[in-house]
Amino acid sequence: MKLNRRKFIKRILIVAASIEAVFLLKDGVSKVDTSSSKELFNAGKADSFEKNKLYPFSTGQFFLKRFEDGGFLAMSVKCTHLGCVVNANSKTGGFNCPCHASQFNKFGEVLSAPATRPLDIFPISIEKGEVLVDTRKPVKRSSYNKSQLTYA
Ligand code: FES
Repeated sequence: MKLNRRKFIKRILIVAASIEAVFLLKDGVSKVDTSSSKELFNAGKADSFEKNKLYPFSTGQFFLKRFEDGGFLAMSVKCTHLGCVVNANSKTGGFNCPCHASQFNKFGEVLSAPATRPLDIFPISIEKGEVLVDTRKPVKRSSYNKSQLTYA
């Protein structure tokens, strides 16, 4: 089969467009749709969470961290760059974004760009020993400070 120059270029363009479509689809799938999951989320009994551990809540789309002093912090899974879901990094205790490689520390602060601000947090209240995370109210922040922790 003989290809003339025009057909060859056309085929190259089709292949390139197909590759781009696959990447766009992949990015779209990993984006978080928070529209249906915003609610007051009951994470469970405060004393059931071990200190210095991270608990992922995929249905609530947050990570609940209990620090060594017993304080709780609920961090959004959404990367602050373009909204991809970050992964917990068990080696560092922080988070990595699979889309453009931003990294965050255990407090959700940026360690490496392109993200420029920490992971959003959600207000926590503890009522009758239950940890309630208000996923309706993400809070943007410029850095971590201890006043963001909630204690039982
Ligand atoms: S969406 Fe996370 S680094 Fe771009």
